[in-house]
Parts: sequence; C-alpha cells; structure tokens
Amino acid sequence: MLDWKTVELPPFKRHRRLRRSSGIRSMVRETDLAPRNLIYPLFIEAGLQGRSPILSMPGQDRIGVDQLNAEANDLARLGIPAVLLFGLPVSKDDLGSGAYARDGIVQQSIRRLKEANPELVVVGDVCLCEYTSHGHCGPLLPDGSVDNDATLPLLAETAVTLAEAGCDIIAPSDMMDGRVTAIRLALDSAGFAQTPILSYAAKFSSAFYGPFRDAADSAPQFGDRRGYQMDPANARMALDEVATDIQEGADMVMVKPALPYLDVLRQVRDRVDVPVAAYNVSGEYSMLMAAIQNGWLDEHRAIDETLTSIRRAGADMIITYHAKQWAARQ
Ligand code: PBG
Repeated sequence: MLDWKTVELPPFKRHRRLRRSSGIRSMVRETDLAPRNLIYPLFIEAGLQGRSPILSMPGQDRIGVDQLNAEANDLARLGIPAVLLFGLPVSKDDLGSGAYARDGIVQQSIRRLKEANPELVVVGDVCLCEYTSHGHCGPLLPDGSVDNDATLPLLAETAVTLAEAGCDIIAPSDMMDGRVTAIRLALDSAGFAQTPILSYAAKFSSAFYGPFRDAADSAPQFGDRRGYQMDPANARMALDEVATDIQEGADMVMVKPALPYLDVLRQVRDRVDVPVAAYNVSGEYSMLMAAIQNGWLDEHRAIDETLTSIRRAGADMIITYHAKQWAARQ
C-alpha cells in the first residue's frame, strides 16, 4: 500500500497519454475541417472551349463555359458548397466595362451554374482589374492613381448585374473606400436586399497574388496596388478595415492572404461575431505544389496541415485551390 502522505506525485504524463491512439487523438481534436468549409475558385475564359492549364498553378485550369456543368457536378459530388468566380473577358477597356456587362463572362457563367445546380452557392468576386486595359482595380486619374469615387458606381453596377444573373453572395475585392455602402445601397434599390456581402475587408498588398495575376491576366501594366491594398506590416489597420466594412453593412468579412496573416485572422475572429473567411491565395497554393512536385513535401500531410492551420486561426470558410483535391480523399 502506498502511504499517500509521503508519496510524491509523478510528473504529469497526460499529454502523451492523450496521443496514444488515433481514437483518443480524434476525441480530443479541437479543430475540424470539412468540405462544407471550402470555397473553390474558378477562372472562366470567354471564348475558350475546354480547359487550359495555368502553368504557375499546377492542377488548376482556366475553363470555358462549356466546362461549368462538369464543375458543378464535381463540386456537388465532393460536398463543396460554393464557388468563387473570376472572369477573363474577350476585350478590356479603361473603365473595365466587361465587369458590369449584363452578358459578361461571369454573368453568363452564373446562369449556367445555377441551371446545372441551383443548390450551388455562387460567390461573385467584384473588382475591375481583370477587365481594365491598365490592370488597376478602377478607372485612373490623370496622375495614374485609381479614382476611388469614380470606381464606386462601377462596382455597384457590377454587383447588381451579378445578382440579376443569380449570384448568391457578392464579394468585393477592390479595396476602394466606401464600396460596401455603395454596393449595399445599389443591391437594395435593385430589389436584392436579401443578397449578402462578403467583403475582402483585410486584403494586403501581397507578392502571393503573382500566379493569380497570370491566371486572370490582371497584373497592373504600371505601378502596383499599394495605394489601395494594405501594407503587410499593419495588423491594427486591418482591424479598422474590418470594423468599417461591418459598419457599412458587410455580412461576412475576409482576411487575405491566409498563411502570412494568420495572426490577423485570429485577431479578427476574436473581435467580430460575423462569419470570417480566409483566402488561401494563388501564391500559397503554388509554393506548396512546387515543393510537392519536387518531392520535398508530403502532399496529403502538407495540405491537411495548411488548411487545418487556417481553420485553427479562426476561419469559418476557406477559399482554396486545394478544395477539390482535398475533398476527393475524404
Ligand atoms: C482581384 C483579386 C485578386 C485576387 C483575388 N481577387 C488579385 C489582386 O488583388 O491582385 C488574388 C487571389 C489569389 O492570388 O489567389 N483584385
């Protein structure tokens, strides 16, 4: 018999005890990741038939509208509830008019997707940079900077045309000041008071958008986006951007990119009670895929760990190019 008065407690071993079997590990797991958390981005190219591989994003393609049925079916089978749409128009101009054309490439695509699967949640990215000849996110002033206030009505018009086509969620990614108010007012007065806004609230001026700009052909022809996207050094300002967008009527907010900004994501999650999305952007995808293709990282473990870390930092939803491959092995 032990003399409990004299016995010294052994050092705690409970951490390893809780890792002994996969059954116990799964009982104490704090963070879940499921296909329902994922949003899959699509690049739809006007005039393209079939698919055209995006070289800087291994495993991702630009697709023609003829592929949308197949995409909608794949996503339904995999349990992925939502897509985020980007368009490559036939031609571009100074005002980015392809973004708000009633028969624009994204507007057409929304109609096709909704016909193929009415349950699919279609998120429309609202920005002009894929549609402007200069590649900036709005029309330019004579000094070459983006004209914030002249951009707002064009964004609002884009949102309305997307909603008319059947878009379920409007996601402005341009970073103009006042755009959530402008879009909300326009949607409400066009009869779309029930269409929610997912605002790219904390969007940083990031090197990790590089492959996307190849894919969407949206690199600025001169200068950069530092005049409107956020400085990577600023976390407090990100919280202010998020608070402003919620005041303006955003129903959900996003942090973008994800991995280099997990601290910002965590702070946003702790401060707001609206749903929070994180965008695991093109450069994050490409660097992982490059290492995987070289055999330097284990594909399944690296992708699982990456997506789990974004959930752990507080994302309800993850926009990710890994969505289909990940969901296919669940
Ligand atoms: C449009 C937009 C961009 C991304 C999403 N919407 C590019 C940019 O701001 O330059 C990037 C997404 C990605 O890198 O995967 N403004």
